[in-house]
Amino acid sequence: MSVTALLGLQWGDEGKGKIVDALGEDIDIVVRAQGGANAGHTVRVGDKTRVLHLIPSAMLNGHVRGVIGNGVVVDPVTLVRELDTLAQSGILIEDRLVLSDRAHLVLPWHQALDEAMETARGASAIGTTKRGIGPAYMDKVARNGIPAAWLTRPTDLTERVRADLEQKNLLLRAYNAPSLKTEDFLPRLLEVAQRLAPLVRDSVGLLLDAEQRGERILIEGAQGALLDVDLGSYPFVTSSNCHIGGLLAGSGMPPRSVGRVIAVAKAYCTRVGSGPFPTEDLGSVGDGLRKRGHEFGSTTGRPRRCGWFDLVAARFAARTNGVTEIALTKADVLSGEPIVKVCTAYEIDGVRTMDFPGAALDRAKPVFEELEGWSEDLTQRRDDAELPQALQALIARLETGIGVPVTLVSTGPERSQTVMRSRSA
Ligand code: GDP
Ligand code: IMO
Ligand code: MG
Repeated sequence: MSVTALLGLQWGDEGKGKIVDALGEDIDIVVRAQGGANAGHTVRVGDKTRVLHLIPSAMLNGHVRGVIGNGVVVDPVTLVRELDTLAQSGILIEDRLVLSDRAHLVLPWHQALDEAMETARGASAIGTTKRGIGPAYMDKVARNGIPAAWLTRPTDLTERVRADLEQKNLLLRAYNAPSLKTEDFLPRLLEVAQRLAPLVRDSVGLLLDAEQRGERILIEGAQGALLDVDLGSYPFVTSSNCHIGGLLAGSGMPPRSVGRVIAVAKAYCTRVGSGPFPTEDLGSVGDGLRKRGHEFGSTTGRPRRCGWFDLVAARFAARTNGVTEIALTKADVLSGEPIVKVCTAYEIDGVRTMDFPGAALDRAKPVFEELEGWSEDLTQRRDDAELPQALQALIARLETGIGVPVTLVSTGPERSQTVMRSRSA
């Protein structure tokens, strides 16, 4: 049981990158398993902040090897740009990174279709990141996708791209979107294919062998449980399974190999894009959280919607994912709030419930419990015993509400601003 799965418990941006990096010392191999460059995982070491979209976050620790797994949809141009940016600041990743031959490529027509489909949705737009994620998974599931293995066969890739583009341009025309021309992107695609070809491997066999040898593997989930295409707030979700099931299928790891399922949760809630958000605060509290928490998207720069912690949603996410422990982030952002609210139930059409609904989330009204706040600055605290009583009381309330212990509290974006707690609950 040498595999740890780490996933977001809310609507993404919980601070997964920060936590994965902070756990780096205990990781041999880090794996991305789903999503693509819609993810923006922020890692801060010292005064350097980096946002990773495809490269697994723990790789900023020099000893950690990384895998972009079979379940990921990969924009090869973005990946090379990310490798280059890191190389410019002296972080060399390429000889430690494997790109699964089964991962699927995100190509320019996927981004163009993402844009065109969002425009066509009009007022019901999802608010996607426009990184081509939905259309790339559509092609994969329809069995029209192009796996990363094709990066190693430039002649076949060229032929395939030319043939597929004819079809995609028909589709783009149906959306009244401009057509694409191969000369605009094929030369760059072939250039990055040549660069990435040595990284393309059978990642599944590699991971199974590493697991057998007892290497410590961490699967880094992207997005969050409530954006899962099956269990999230459909249709305002992403196009992959951010659920533990997606982390396993997207890496090839068997369920019995997983010892720990760590869920990262913010001490309040945020959401980017459209869709129901029962605890959203459209007033001064939400504005304050956005300002103090710097709640602007790591991928798109959009302001994040902010609100109070939602225990109903968190409990559902923890139960469906078999979460064994919680890493609580951004507790420091709540410092100075005289009262901290937690949503303990919903009222839907006049009926009180603790169940997270499949279809009626837009009608759910939050029932809040109020807890005492704290004013202390947490950013220098490194020990559980140094955390204020009022924060300990909030943590205890979350632990009983979710039914899972909080084993880590993050008190700032930097790697060392991390408090480990014993498994008490
Ligand atoms: P991810 O997508 O889950 O990796 O999260 P993002 O990186 O998109 O967003 C989390 C933001 O919060 C980033 O700017 C992090 O640097 C920052 N962050 C993470 N943990 C903490 C924390 O405990 N306190 C504060 N103040 N910021 C944090
Ligand atoms: P990380 O890994 C927050 C949201 C988008 C949109 C919906 C669908 O950084 O937590 P998509 O581009 O995936 O088709 O968009 O999902 N979304 C995220 N929100 N964090 C993310 O990733 C997200 N990835 C996608 O804003 O509402
Ligand atoms: Mg993010």
